[in-house]
Amino acid sequence: MSIKKFINKKSKAYQAWLSYEKLSDNYLNKNEELLSNISVYGKTNLSASIKEELKRALPKFLAADFKLNFKDRYQNKILIAAETEVKEIAAGSKEISSILNNVEFGELDEEGYLIKYFKEQDLLLLTAASDQGLLYGVFALLREIQQENDLLELDLLSNPKNNLRMLNHWDNLDGSIERGYAGKSIFYKDNQLVNDLKRIRDYARMLASIGINALSINNVNVSYQETRLIDDKIEMVITIADILRDYGITTYLSANYASPMQLSSIDTADPLDEKVRLWWKEKTAEIYDEIPDFGGFVVKADSEGRPGPFTYGRSHADGANMMAEALEPHGGLLIWRCFVYNCQQDWRDKETDRARAAYDNFKDLDGQFKENVLLQIKNGPMDFQVREPITPLFGAMPETNQVLELQVTQEYTGQQKDLCYLIPQWKKVTDFDTYAEGENTPVKRIVDGSTYNQKNTGFAAVVNVGNDQNWTGHHLAQANLYGYGRLAWNPDLSAVKITEEWIKITFGQDQEVMESLLRMLLYSWSIYEDYTSPLGIGWMVNPGHHYGVNVNGYEYSRWGTYHRADHEGIGVDRSVATGTGYAGQYFKENAEKYETIENCPDELLLFFHHVPYTHELDSGKTVIQHIYDSHFRGVAAVKELQGHWEKLEEKVDSEIFENVNKRLKMQLDNAVEWRDQVNTYFHRISGIDDKFDRKIY
Ligand code: GCU
Repeated sequence: MSIKKFINKKSKAYQAWLSYEKLSDNYLNKNEELLSNISVYGKTNLSASIKEELKRALPKFLAADFKLNFKDRYQNKILIAAETEVKEIAAGSKEISSILNNVEFGELDEEGYLIKYFKEQDLLLLTAASDQGLLYGVFALLREIQQENDLLELDLLSNPKNNLRMLNHWDNLDGSIERGYAGKSIFYKDNQLVNDLKRIRDYARMLASIGINALSINNVNVSYQETRLIDDKIEMVITIADILRDYGITTYLSANYASPMQLSSIDTADPLDEKVRLWWKEKTAEIYDEIPDFGGFVVKADSEGRPGPFTYGRSHADGANMMAEALEPHGGLLIWRCFVYNCQQDWRDKETDRARAAYDNFKDLDGQFKENVLLQIKNGPMDFQVREPITPLFGAMPETNQVLELQVTQEYTGQQKDLCYLIPQWKKVTDFDTYAEGENTPVKRIVDGSTYNQKNTGFAAVVNVGNDQNWTGHHLAQANLYGYGRLAWNPDLSAVKITEEWIKITFGQDQEVMESLLRMLLYSWSIYEDYTSPLGIGWMVNPGHHYGVNVNGYEYSRWGTYHRADHEGIGVDRSVATGTGYAGQYFKENAEKYETIENCPDELLLFFHHVPYTHELDSGKTVIQHIYDSHFRGVAAVKELQGHWEKLEEKVDSEIFENVNKRLKMQLDNAVEWRDQVNTYFHRISGIDDKFDRKIY
């Protein structure tokens, strides 16, 4: 018998960063009149969502007894209207026509917004080219208010840097979530839709508030039940798409490459077979009949047991183009993942290197993909490790649309039991200079389409939510979701700015809360790295579920380890001169940096080189001493995290306090285990003692 999970939707944990607390008296004294007189224009579903959000937020900001003057005719202090409407109003209003010359309509992209205060008219204008832009603008305005920023100073024009700002759900129809750490699916249960559609709506609000505009709603490993989403289960997709649409979010599906074989009597999925091509065209047309604004498909092919074009001796360009052709007449996109590798590789073979796979499989296909194909590339060449280099494929395919794939769900980074705030890691990824077009060609300028003048590019990430009351299991993991959206909108935002913003709109204005949380969040990634796998070696996790330490844990075969440690040294030689040649996949500047032990940054040393335990790092420490020190330091730092949090007990919501407190305890247990197992293993295998004679278990 399943026990019904009770969700308190009024709780702060559930409301996340949209709980809209009462503003301080000081701020209200200054802004109450402005905030009490708002007119909103627009008659679309998006405008209805805008009005609903304002009606939800404003009374909470002001006070319970407050009367809201909320007109959709202009006579107010805050005017929210799209460009065409502003111009119409201006025809009948001297006040509005007097500001028109100072409104930079021409600089607004389709999804951008402008929020600007006009002193003379005492008017705050929020405008955009579309209602979608207006929706983002309203959430931006609410964010400004939540932070108690001065409204009279506002002059904010913001366009998203990336056209695609996507999240991928790895949800299965039975309600389970692959790599999900926050309960079950918010969409599905027992192969049906959940009853609680209101929650999906709340989710859409959260996503719109951070600028997400695309959502794929099922696992990339598409089994038979999920394959049926494009067939007899399409009603489920229609219902979800209807909800998401009201918040400007386009619905995508992960598609099974072998769908024609599963859903029809066709006995092949050969992309060049006419029957197969026709089947996809007809099937796709059927979907668009039901969901005219359907986004398209996400596909994982020829990887980890998934079917794909390799079976038929065809290339990934053949496979992707075949599906893209079916989507093309409807304006749909085909998002093809580059996480393609042979998981059965025998690692005893020195030449074999999984890290090479994405580049080896895709680089030579540049120029062969259709315009509506986007290649979705994981940030690193392996698999979302706590530290790995940036995939060399970014920038290496100038004639192909590229999308960056990140992992918000913390598969290898503590599974939302351990605190690991990932924005600093992602900033390193987006700012990484590929040198594709000489110096200063960072990843963010490849995937925003500006380097090669492309429009079908952007960000995607595996999301971290489930049906837990607080959505993300660990309350502070909400910050990863928030930060991902903000970064996808604008990767130039600093990690500190995003973090401060999230803290304020989630926890309010208290200085001590701000300082403690800022420290906790910003250091948590390096703390996690300290007590887990050192110097870029990665893994050492339990195979299968991937939580907790297992130094020799190796996923797919009995042969080999990821770290290749023996009694003399550790690391994988990926140099061109003596190793797997992976380092040579980068553009010259990076290839040279990674090629030699001398030039390779220590943080990635063991990813690129096999070195003796006695090798001296830039810090002056030997590798073995670094392993000991970082693991002791990591555990000590988790205790400090606990100390910071405990001090906030009186200042944060008690449910949230308890949630984080419990998880920090689990984190400490985990860290201690990692420290002890890693240190013991390398102590034994190297035979070298800790310089400080600390106890190694
Ligand atoms: C990882 C993860 C899998 C997932 C895969 C992917 O290997 O462990 O669960 O399916 O990535 O990205 O497709």
